[in-house]
Amino acid sequence: MAILPIRIIPDPVLREKAKPVAVVDERIRQLAKDMLATMYDAPGIGLAAPQVGVSERVVVCDVATGEDEEPAPMVLINPVVVEASQEWGVYEEGCLSIPEVTYDVERPAKVRVEYLDEEGALQTVDADGLLATCIQHEIDHLDGVLFIDHLSRLKRDRVWKRFVKQAKQGA
Ligand code: NI
Repeated sequence: MAILPIRIIPDPVLREKAKPVAVVDERIRQLAKDMLATMYDAPGIGLAAPQVGVSERVVVCDVATGEDEEPAPMVLINPVVVEASQEWGVYEEGCLSIPEVTYDVERPAKVRVEYLDEEGALQTVDADGLLATCIQHEIDHLDGVLFIDHLSRLKRDRVWKRFVKQAKQGA
């Protein structure tokens, strides 16, 4: 397992639409393992492949962050939201690619997601609570969408410009 460097905005890979995984093979399983190691090391509760510079549709998450909770790693390949609740929920979100920025984001409270597991088998998960938010946030990454895109334009631009400036300064 390797801990991979995490891409920070405005890295262009974070704005690309990631390619579907054609074959779930050893390369993809290794990528998923490395992504989980990178996510736990950060630490974070979710990570999408573009965040480690790989523009392919792979996400990992683990929302079992309580002291007494067993780790619950999930690997979702080519994930698709097939149903979303009418009811919305709000969580304070952050992102490993936008360090030290958090804002409340409103999303559907429950989603049904279809994906391929590490063996390439089709799976379905009914997610609610933090898991629903986490999976939606990560799927957004696969389409080049960031959580700040769900904020007002003013807030989003303010964050974006700050990171552009930092990148120019080589910080
Ligand atoms: Ni993120």
